[in-house]
Amino acid sequence: MRKILFASSEVHPLMKTGGLADVSASLPYALSQHGQDVRVFMPAYRQCLKKLENIERVAALKLDGYHESVDILEATLPGTDVVVWLLGSSHHFDRDGGPYSQPDGEDWEDNAARFALFCRAIVALSVNEAGLDWQPDVLHCNDWQTGLAPALLSDRAERPDTIFTIHNMAYQGLFGRDVFDSLDLPESLWSIDGLEFYGLMSFMKAGLIFSDHITTVSPSYAREICDIEYGYGLEGLLRQRAESGHLTGILNGIDYDEWNPATDTHIETHYSAKTPNRKKKNKRLLQQQSYLPISEDTLLIGLISRLVSQKGVDLSIAAVAQLLEEGQNIQLICLGSGEEQYEHSLRVLRARFPDKVALTIGYNETLSHQIEAGVDVFLMPSRFEPCGLNQMYSLRYGTLPIVRNTGGLADTVVDATEENRKAEIANGFCFTEASPEALILSLRRAIALFQHPRKWRKMMITAMTHDFSWENSATLYIDLYHHIKER
Ligand code: ADP
Ligand code: GLC
Repeated sequence: MRKILFASSEVHPLMKTGGLADVSASLPYALSQHGQDVRVFMPAYRQCLKKLENIERVAALKLDGYHESVDILEATLPGTDVVVWLLGSSHHFDRDGGPYSQPDGEDWEDNAARFALFCRAIVALSVNEAGLDWQPDVLHCNDWQTGLAPALLSDRAERPDTIFTIHNMAYQGLFGRDVFDSLDLPESLWSIDGLEFYGLMSFMKAGLIFSDHITTVSPSYAREICDIEYGYGLEGLLRQRAESGHLTGILNGIDYDEWNPATDTHIETHYSAKTPNRKKKNKRLLQQQSYLPISEDTLLIGLISRLVSQKGVDLSIAAVAQLLEEGQNIQLICLGSGEEQYEHSLRVLRARFPDKVALTIGYNETLSHQIEAGVDVFLMPSRFEPCGLNQMYSLRYGTLPIVRNTGGLADTVVDATEENRKAEIANGFCFTEASPEALILSLRRAIALFQHPRKWRKMMITAMTHDFSWENSATLYIDLYHHIKER
């Protein structure tokens, strides 16, 4: 058994902007189910405090770089007995808006100070200086918001082993030299072998350099980020760490209790791989509540996404528009929020095809489950995708994903070639080039195969019976926790 401090800036259902939150809840839970002593640590955002019952203040401490003392609050992750500690500092975290941005979408101006404070608190917990009488064997950091912690721990003799998991290289926590100065960090960290990155300070680079081991969330992405196209300038460093055996790709799992079509409380009709036909009832209801014509033989396409360039939203819009112009028998149901340009293009698409396209701009947990349960195919033509959870949720719900061959999408979706279908391993549709034309070809293949209900059902069953739970991956993490230093 290892004692693991799992630090993350978002944890479902307390605070979520994307898949990081899902993983930061479901992985610690899986680890605790495997007998590990895990404590999750996150900032006490205003939203979290509203959602938690029985919060207890268990410590108060003074951290370098901030004049007031901060609190450590304790609760359990809803629905589990996993302990979650929260960093209480009302000046930094008790505000409306998201974890990184203001209600109008602009980043908080003091993000560097907010997450530097979080990192200092991680350090205090890691060396048992927070008054909690608990010393972790392993500190598991996630993404840039936790990157300074391994750096600040590096010269501490009594420190735990450190792992840094990359969920997305596109967000690195870059700030100016003036910000570095304002954070009162050791001057020695400002070096090319530290967190200096082309004249800026990089939280991410600090994590990559100073952690004992780096993981990322799929084997394919672990290879891709060593390349100029996906490494955002850090590919050289990542290649070095990969060559010395310090970078591993471990595929995310999904929460099999929360995402289970046989028990999902958000959906009307439950079904499983033994009763795939019952899914049709969810399709009918979804069409009805989305004000689309009810039609069983129309290919119903789903899209749930942060609306950002990473997700290839522009490719989805162009491809669906083209197929609708041709009069293909398809409908699109879309749920998402993000950049204004994509929200606008989706609104234009809906206005052009009001009886073919349904659109919800915003964040809606229940609707996301209903879409997964109701649609026939799920669009995820990402330009890059470290892992991706939605294609795995889709697979579990017998919804065939249409994906670009990249990162975790390439590791989870097997293309519906004739050969793969014969071997009963096909579970979706894949393409390579990031263009509307390539996506359109995949969509055409899906439309054609949808005319053959038996073949389609076979793929649904293949998708639904593959194991995407944490079972395997949690074991890989535990093995890593035991052998970090030997590496
Ligand atoms: P990323 O973390 O890059 O956004 P993932 O596929 O790993 O991509 O995870 C996305 C998560 O966020 C999934 O749980 C998905 O259901 C959820 N999600 C994204 N957009 C919305 C939305 N508008 N409403 C509800 N859930 C959403
Ligand atoms: C990031 C990635 C996504 C991944 C998630 C959880 O948000 O964009 O691909 O699934 O983290 O690891």
